[in-house]
Amino acid sequence: MDNLLSIQRAQPAPPCTVVIFGASGDLAKRKLIPALCNLVACGQGMMPAKSAVLGFARREMSLDEFRKSAHDWTARFSRMKVDEACWAGFADGLDYLSGLDHPDGFAKLKVKLEAIEKARGLPPNRVYYLATPPEAIGESVERLAQAGLISGPNAPNFSRVVVEKPIGHDLPSALEINRVLMKHLDESQVFRIDHYLGKETVQNLLVLRFSNNIFERLWGSRNVDHVQITVAEAEGVGTRATFYDRAGALRDMVQNHILQTLSLLTMEAPVSLDARAITDAKLNVLRTIRPITAEDARANTVRARYGAGIDADGKPVAGYMDEPGVPDNSRAETFVALKTYIDNWRWSGVPFFIRTGKRMKQRASSIYVQFKDVPQILFNRDSAVPANALTIRIQPDEGFSFDVMTKRPGLDLVLQPVRMNLSYRTAFGDGASPDGYERLLLDVMDGDHTLFPSAQFVEKSWEFVQGILDSWSDRARVPMGKYTAGSWGPNEADELIGTAGQVWHEP
Ligand code: BG6
Repeated sequence: MDNLLSIQRAQPAPPCTVVIFGASGDLAKRKLIPALCNLVACGQGMMPAKSAVLGFARREMSLDEFRKSAHDWTARFSRMKVDEACWAGFADGLDYLSGLDHPDGFAKLKVKLEAIEKARGLPPNRVYYLATPPEAIGESVERLAQAGLISGPNAPNFSRVVVEKPIGHDLPSALEINRVLMKHLDESQVFRIDHYLGKETVQNLLVLRFSNNIFERLWGSRNVDHVQITVAEAEGVGTRATFYDRAGALRDMVQNHILQTLSLLTMEAPVSLDARAITDAKLNVLRTIRPITAEDARANTVRARYGAGIDADGKPVAGYMDEPGVPDNSRAETFVALKTYIDNWRWSGVPFFIRTGKRMKQRASSIYVQFKDVPQILFNRDSAVPANALTIRIQPDEGFSFDVMTKRPGLDLVLQPVRMNLSYRTAFGDGASPDGYERLLLDVMDGDHTLFPSAQFVEKSWEFVQGILDSWSDRARVPMGKYTAGSWGPNEADELIGTAGQVWHEP
């Protein structure tokens, strides 16, 4: 394509060893192993072939078993087809160690790392990826430090720790995790992962807003009527009930992915493209987001869980309470909708509607920005002219569209809404978007924090969510609603947006 502006080129990572804590878990299977495989030579050549990946978990497993499982996971979940010759190269650097929960597990980890580094001629650059539940973060970091596995921020070789969301279960536990991290590490060594920030369309929010003059001029309360953010999943809770039931949709999706997306969508222009400048701009959004309190929780929040229904493929599916592993006394919501405001100069008075849920009609995440109506004169005098709207499709079918009114060709004066559409697939071809984890893992190895939430952002986002959790602790205040699996959510969510005279836009 002509006129490409290359602002920053991805650099191949320095040689290192990535240690995956919880290497037999869901995240390692679905995301981390396939992403790492795609980064090595056979994929995009971004990770030196001599780099190593060490799985560290509780389960006993032979190296052959681990390599075979890793192959199966990659074949099943990778966006790229496995090329067997390349796989052999990746598998050669793949190792496994059990004993994560043994008293001497970390001493063995040290011995193992040194052996791998010696055998492969690697410098002791280490990335510790904690793909474990939030309760385990503090202990893992303490034990890494005790075993002498963390070098200082100015050491010639790096030690970096990656922590997965959710960081904590509530505000106090998030503060505690950040405290332990800061006890043993410098902020520059900590990478808090939110994989939505690795998605192309989420990264593109910055480009769309700040490299196109037309949007920025319209962005704010003078022109925007309201904003909707929908993150809908067709899948149910699957095999993750043990984790999910402790979290629920608010903690699992709103505290992190959705508040990140909201802040990129609404922040002021950062002073530069530096990680710190972007982080500051995002943080300012959370400083002005209107808290939800016990008094207004009923009017501004909806929680619900799915009942039995028909999934996106037309198959009957069980309700949440009948899913394997969900306890009878579950309090988790699988759907949440809320209305909030950003009380700053730009967004004053503009409602933001957010909804996310499992087992919804289809997998579709989007941002919908509805502009204000044209004045009630000329075309809008006798009949209602639909407002312009910008829809940014995060996934699947990534892209964006703009709804405008036009005159339908003909002798009559008939107005017709039309959609100007950009589809990534059409514009850039299939498979052009790397998986979010590929981008983020590469950034960790490069030491680039731009796409990672800071400690402060995590704490601020918990503050907002904690207000909702506190008001929900009285179950009668916002009762748990129900929706049919395969629908767009409960009626209460329609009522929530209906109070503003609006309806949810189908993403
Ligand atoms: C994870 C949540 O962070 O994001 C999952 O824990 C959810 O519950 C997933 O399914 C959604 O990610 P994606 O990339 O499929 O939208």
